[in-house]
Amino acid sequence: MHARTETPPRGGVGGLLEALEEARERTLALVEGLNDDDLDRVHSRLMSPLAWDLGHIAAFEDLWLCRAAGGLELLRPDLARVYDADETPRAERGSLAYLHASEVRDYMAAVRERSLTILDGFDGDGALVELVLRHEQQHNETMLQTLRLAGVVQKRAPSPVVASPGPDMVRVEAGAFTMGSGPDGFAYDNEHPRHVVDLPAFEIDRLPVTVADWIEFMDAEGAEEPLHWNGTAPESRLPVMHVSWDEAAAYARFRGKRLPTEAEWEKAASWDPATGASYRYPWGEAAPSPALANLDQTAFGPAPAGAYPDGASPCGALGMVGDQWEWTGSEFAPYPGFRAHPYREYSEVFFGRGYRVLRGGSWATRPRVVDNRFRNWDLPQRRQIFAGFRCAA
Ligand SMILES: [Fe+2]
Repeated sequence: MHARTETPPRGGVGGLLEALEEARERTLALVEGLNDDDLDRVHSRLMSPLAWDLGHIAAFEDLWLCRAAGGLELLRPDLARVYDADETPRAERGSLAYLHASEVRDYMAAVRERSLTILDGFDGDGALVELVLRHEQQHNETMLQTLRLAGVVQKRAPSPVVASPGPDMVRVEAGAFTMGSGPDGFAYDNEHPRHVVDLPAFEIDRLPVTVADWIEFMDAEGAEEPLHWNGTAPESRLPVMHVSWDEAAAYARFRGKRLPTEAEWEKAASWDPATGASYRYPWGEAAPSPALANLDQTAFGPAPAGAYPDGASPCGALGMVGDQWEWTGSEFAPYPGFRAHPYREYSEVFFGRGYRVLRGGSWATRPRVVDNRFRNWDLPQRRQIFAGFRCAA
């Protein structure tokens, strides 16, 4: 893309222009080297064809940046329904008239051209631009799930990092903490409003459940191996991934424990009893860096449990952000006083329908889209997510 030097960011968008360009470079890098058939094909009934994700990213940008923020008509109104995620369940997307690999990059570029025109001198709602940016970054992770199912993302060599020593579980004292996102900065509607939650004391695993832990569960209870093992377990110190919520809950019972509630997870990740503050990240307010957490897709897998001692939360839990999402015991539901924004379909339509909350992001999550407060959700039987868990008691 050529616009970086031609249209410097002005008005309300600040560094968002550069961030949009960077996000697009990453999106295209994920599919670089794939042939058209790999992009157009349905790799799994659980996932969209990769070409659908690409077109959907551009259609979302056209809808929210060009139309909602910029006041333009849609570039391709005929594609609106095809790329509406709510109208088209993933299982059906392979049969839709979505743009195939041969056309979709041109559509992405054409939408981006319109966006850049709007963003030149833009002084409108920067939150809509941020929404579009994060949407693209979130779809990167969905695309990586598809690439993993297609066998394209390879296992990487385990890192030699040794877990720092410590107890199996750490204690979080009883008391009130503030949960959710405050009014400043961008946050999704489901993280609002910030509210006080008073919890009794609890214990939570210091490290996520590992492959070695899971093998004990399989041997003792006949539990299934996680998705993608294909008879060969990953390195034993890695966090277990690609297990469903149902399986995670069964594991917790096997250990005489349970999954943490969503509030317990967030308190263990964010609450500093010394100050009473809830930090944005386990380590405090500083933005994520490679020394603090395994995010941003570059490692192509999780690090051994306990690999990031500098990323510890105030209670001493390690790896709460990065490596693998963590299932919580809670169903996806609104916080007290929730208001849908900017559209009902983002969160509200998923409330109370059996979805379980995941927290903390994975190696495949871009750093901008995750913190202690970010809520992800999926159905309890799903295993394709880069998800593991830790237990509470
Ligand atoms: Fe989407």
